[in-house]
Amino acid sequence: MASGSPRAAGCSGERPKMTRKRIGVLISGRGSNMEALLAAASDPAFPAEISLVMSNRADAAGLATAASQGVATAVVDHRPYGKDRESFERALDARMRDAGVELVCLAGFMRVLTPVFVGAWDGRMLNIHPSLLPAYSGLHTHERALNDGVRVHGCTVHFVTPVLDVGPIIAQAVVPVRAGDDPDKLAARVLRQEHRLYPRALELIASGAAWLENGRVMYQDAQAMARATVFADET
Ligand code: GRF
Repeated sequence: MASGSPRAAGCSGERPKMTRKRIGVLISGRGSNMEALLAAASDPAFPAEISLVMSNRADAAGLATAASQGVATAVVDHRPYGKDRESFERALDARMRDAGVELVCLAGFMRVLTPVFVGAWDGRMLNIHPSLLPAYSGLHTHERALNDGVRVHGCTVHFVTPVLDVGPIIAQAVVPVRAGDDPDKLAARVLRQEHRLYPRALELIASGAAWLENGRVMYQDAQAMARATVFADET
């Protein structure tokens, strides 16, 4: 290779290292979506790495999973802060910044966030929600979908804005509702798609293939947009 080429510039002949976005994941419980993100990030070609997994609960099962994979973990218990959500969030924010986090992924984080934290991470915080937003924001999404008799349900990854579960949509996965479904069966079908969708959405944002512009998500091309749109093929 000619000297002066990008590859020769490193002198070692190795492929130049891609800069991976540093991700902080916030969890409150089992952390299966966090696990899906960790699995995706274990591929060196994935454009993001998980730098910190943090929880408001010391007993969140996902913390042990992350630690067992060598990922830094932290706990900021919300209880000592009482009603002072802002101080709790400032503590979360400080830990994220100490870890050099660039993008935050909420993955089953069960605290409502105020504009203090949401504003600090404006355009740099993702959430996964178990419904096809804007339908069924809030809790008990599967039960409500079944009660309404909808034929399709699913999950959404979106940017976080101050209003709960409202925010520019990055990616969605659609699953069918089957005869004989109960909330648990439907939840399990949706969750399998969550585990596909969240890494895809993060990949799109971290790689720059999708971005936020004037309150909407833009995609660099049809392929990126297609990756953000999943139709579950399972029966
Ligand atoms: C998921 O269903 C996610 O959509 C919702 O909370 C649940 C978290 O599950 N926000 P897990 O902790 O990732 O297993």
